[in-house]
Amino acid sequence: MKASGDKFAVITAYDFTFAKLIENAGIEVVLVGDSLGNVIQGRDSTIPVTVADMVYHTAAVKRGNSNALLIADMPFMSYATETQALENAALLMQAGAHMVKLEGGAWLAETVRLLCERGIPVCGHVGLTPQSVHKLGGYKVQGKEEQAAAQMISEAKALEKAGAELIVVECVPSSLGRALSQALTIPVIGIGAGPDTDAQVLVLHDMLGISQRLPRFSKNFLEDNTSIQSAISAYGDAVRAGTFPAPEHCF
Ligand code: KIV
Repeated sequence: MKASGDKFAVITAYDFTFAKLIENAGIEVVLVGDSLGNVIQGRDSTIPVTVADMVYHTAAVKRGNSNALLIADMPFMSYATETQALENAALLMQAGAHMVKLEGGAWLAETVRLLCERGIPVCGHVGLTPQSVHKLGGYKVQGKEEQAAAQMISEAKALEKAGAELIVVECVPSSLGRALSQALTIPVIGIGAGPDTDAQVLVLHDMLGISQRLPRFSKNFLEDNTSIQSAISAYGDAVRAGTFPAPEHCF
């Protein structure tokens, strides 16, 4: 799709029923995000989420999904060492994931290479990486300075070189979202990264307007639709048509 300039939609899911609705809507990629810590468990960050939590929700989503690419997040500290990464990624793949997602930059390249060599497809995640919220000093837009933007592009390239097949970029200026998508061969999935990334991802509860706080980069698609099913379809259509995100959702 990237090669032919077709955008695709990604959405998070945490259970069987929503996975079915997402499948009915023809969404291309489903992410079992560790955002479940916030929207399912009511935590104030993703840090408390465990591998067991991710395995449980991945297995539930897998039962509702037959067509979409299913990515599962590796939670906080589950890939701090290469051994941990291999063992925990294996658990997520055995629960039904087709690919695992890890947050971080060039320091992860060796881990990404190892996972890929062992037959585990990897999605990277750069920009605002919520598992590092305390290191980042809060949920802030990343890569605003020229040097930080250049560094992020170079780290994303290192992940691609190591074998990552997709990369999420979260909360960066639109210009950096565009530059990353142009610099990489693999598809770049943006969230709060402007309209020019190859794909968009939203947290399910945000795009249905049922989370406690709607982030600036998200949109309540249920507002203009009469059912959850049609809201999810409208999101997919808007991403493919390039009408979401609009300028008010961008940094
Ligand atoms: O956990 C998650 O839902 C994510 C997305 C916000 C990209 O990582």
